[in-house]
Amino acid sequence: MSRPPAVRLDRLLANLGYGSRREVHALVRDRAVILDGRPVTDAGARISLTPDLPGRMTVRGAPVDPPAPLVLMMHKPEGVVCSHREPGRSVYELLPPRWRSRMPSLSTIGRLDRDTTGLLLITDDGDYLHRIISPRSHAPKRYIATLLSPLRGDEGEVFARGDLMLDGEERPLAPAVLEALEPLVARLTITEGRYHQVRRMFSAVGNQVVQLHRDRIGGLDLPHDLAPGDWKRLTPEQCAAALMDPGA
Ligand code: URA
Repeated sequence: MSRPPAVRLDRLLANLGYGSRREVHALVRDRAVILDGRPVTDAGARISLTPDLPGRMTVRGAPVDPPAPLVLMMHKPEGVVCSHREPGRSVYELLPPRWRSRMPSLSTIGRLDRDTTGLLLITDDGDYLHRIISPRSHAPKRYIATLLSPLRGDEGEVFARGDLMLDGEERPLAPAVLEALEPLVARLTITEGRYHQVRRMFSAVGNQVVQLHRDRIGGLDLPHDLAPGDWKRLTPEQCAAALMDPGA
């Protein structure tokens, strides 16, 4: 088995957002960093990045934040944006404030519109992010769309054909699977992540989405007990499930 990577304490805590290296040195001088029950006295000490570190190290009396790589799932609430650049409250503001200074930084895996709710993944692991959003991954994303007008009945066939062109695009959409749940509610599974894709697909068939919720990515479901605005870390098994195609 390979040894876990080790990193200097001052670098580790600075990268986790606890302050500059100088501020981390001050924490160590104040005996505020405890490892395995004893204060760490050398800010240059090399710390093994074992998964159990938050159970072994405290900073100012609280478990140290989990080091990278970190993958989170969030139940995105309505009215928050996924980008730092868009105006308004962002999903990052729902995480601990210190996490905004983490290096590597956290990013959402794909985006949901301001008014879309549901399963959102957030990570600092660039490889994992690319594996999910890469067009080659085909990780299905499942949405529940509430519509303005009743389904006509032919939408499933139109979406499944794989020849639907959205306005302003040069390539047709990949086939998608629609299940009618109620006259005004449909479940739609897509394998791409084009801009406003679900809303534009319904507008291409003469309808309008009034509410949109994502409940699954790959084989990973949004847990029923994760309330809007709440988030939690993914287990390695859940990380693998998000990459799977449950229908394949
Ligand atoms: N498709 C949309 O139109 N909006 C989203 O937020 C996600 C997919």
